Amino acid sequence: MVFFGSTLFKTRDNIGTVQEPLQEKGILVNKNQAQAVAHEFSDKLWDLHKWIGFVICALLISRLVIEIVQPGEEKLRTKISKAAGFTTNNLLDRKEKNHYLQVKWGYLLFYFLILVMAVTGLGLAFEDVSILRRWNGTITQIHSIVQYFIYGFIIIHLTGVIRADGRKYKGLVSGMIHGKVIR
Ligand code: HEM
Repeated sequence: MVFFGSTLFKTRDNIGTVQEPLQEKGILVNKNQAQAVAHEFSDKLWDLHKWIGFVICALLISRLVIEIVQPGEEKLRTKISKAAGFTTNNLLDRKEKNHYLQVKWGYLLFYFLILVMAVTGLGLAFEDVSILRRWNGTITQIHSIVQYFIYGFIIIHLTGVIRADGRKYKGLVSGMIHGKVIR
């Protein structure tokens, strides 16, 4: 959606797309009029992005509620502090611990990035609120920049999962799809 909104359906690039077929039918519209039509299509796409954004916000809130209400030992916070406090002289165990901590901190980083996107996205969705209008430029900038960290994270995460699947955690990807834990 973001990809199409920023490329194929970019208002500026579609002014000619509106003007040309109309011209063939003998209707002349100026740039301003064509822009208004092109803008409608781009708006439709961004509106859909906004509604998907609200769903992401709801999912994020439910993840937060789950973290709060689930039993202590299931909490991400408990798992991280338990693992961080685990000491061993065994090199393999230490490696395993560091890998486990890396993965869990990775989750936290991802939640943080999504949280920033959700908060700034809400700031854009309610830009008509006067206090938010004043910050619109900054909010847009943050929303636009943090998207690249999310893409970066997804690429690194997928690479890590595929590498793990090919090495120590064979069947990891298949397990995710079929819901089986393969060790
Ligand atoms: C990973 C998630 C997300 C990505 C990658 C993303 C990406 C983007 C991008 C690239 C833009 C265009 C910014 C610009 O004008 O330069 C945008 C606009 C926007 N985003 Fe997001 N976004 C995400 C999540 C959200 C969420 C959670 C919301 C919450 C409602 C949201 C609401 C909006 C709104 C309202 C706009 C303005 C659309 C318009 O111009 O009419 N986004 N987003």
